[in-house]
Amino acid sequence: MIEKKLEKIKNETILKIENSESIKQLEEIKVGILGKKGELTSILKSLGSLSNEERPKVGKIVNMTRGNLEKLLNNKREMLKEEALKNSLIEETIDVTMKGKAPKLGKVHPMTSVIDEINTIFLGMGYETADGPEIEKEYYNFNALNIEENHPARDEQDTFYLGNGFLLRTQTSPVQIRKMEEGKLPIKIISPGRVFRADEVDATHSPSFHQVEGLVIDENISMAYLKGTLEAFAKELLGEKTKVKFRPHHFPFTEPSAEMDVTCFVCNGVGCKVCKYEGWIELLGCGMVHPKVLEMSGIDSKKYSGFAFGMGLERLAMLKYEIKDLRLMYENNVNFLKQF
Ligand code: DAH
Repeated sequence: MIEKKLEKIKNETILKIENSESIKQLEEIKVGILGKKGELTSILKSLGSLSNEERPKVGKIVNMTRGNLEKLLNNKREMLKEEALKNSLIEETIDVTMKGKAPKLGKVHPMTSVIDEINTIFLGMGYETADGPEIEKEYYNFNALNIEENHPARDEQDTFYLGNGFLLRTQTSPVQIRKMEEGKLPIKIISPGRVFRADEVDATHSPSFHQVEGLVIDENISMAYLKGTLEAFAKELLGEKTKVKFRPHHFPFTEPSAEMDVTCFVCNGVGCKVCKYEGWIELLGCGMVHPKVLEMSGIDSKKYSGFAFGMGLERLAMLKYEIKDLRLMYENNVNFLKQF
């Protein structure tokens, strides 16, 4: 009787094992047969009721059956594991030939391009770049540049006063003073950076814009040096055919002072929309550093002289890239920026 039952259990189990499709199913089969309440286990437990003669015989068969089933279970488990591994390898295969999603790359901002270009030109002429703070002392921004308390230039450069003698710098010129005060001569620097004025925003004005400052201090620096340098710079920046002209002007921190115009780089001076049919474009302010400014910064104006220049960068970038509205430069609209 028991033997028949065992045979039946064995055959059924083998079938179940063969048909099982997952390790979990296999575990369930194992528990059902060999677990604490499993079919084989309960047969083992009932051996005590058999006769002395039958007990070892049946016991042996039960143990053999158990051994066989365990082996079958283990084999099937290995098979299922291998299959699962194979499947996951197939599923997780990366198709290296599939077209990828190109990451969206940014572009160099037109302002940055202009600054880089100017830096490169002056570095090529042996200049170093210098940096200055955007939150500046009123003294550096005005007084030390010979712009006294009630000087009208302060109105023209109306700015954001922060109290305690600090303001947002209205020009990059204070970097001149900081550099001179360091006391290391000669000086040959340019200093690009952001400046601020209390202007309303429109197509040509912004409360925040960029300038680049230049300063050269050494013995025997003359106006000829200034003109030669700035002409070479203009030709390098705007093309070999560019002509320059210097118009007298006034800046409190230079004497004499001038503004430099360049022939329009679009029409070569003939007259076009870009230069408003004038043929010339105003590029920068410049002059020989005022002896008073030199002395205030601790430099002997009898021994040393120098020249300085300052240039707004937005207008230059707008002319160069034919940008009609200044506001576009600050909106960071990717569609706009990716054109350049
Ligand atoms: N700082 C002047 C401005 O913002 C520009 C300028 C003119 C700078 C003449 C200079 C200079 O260094 O020599 O209008």
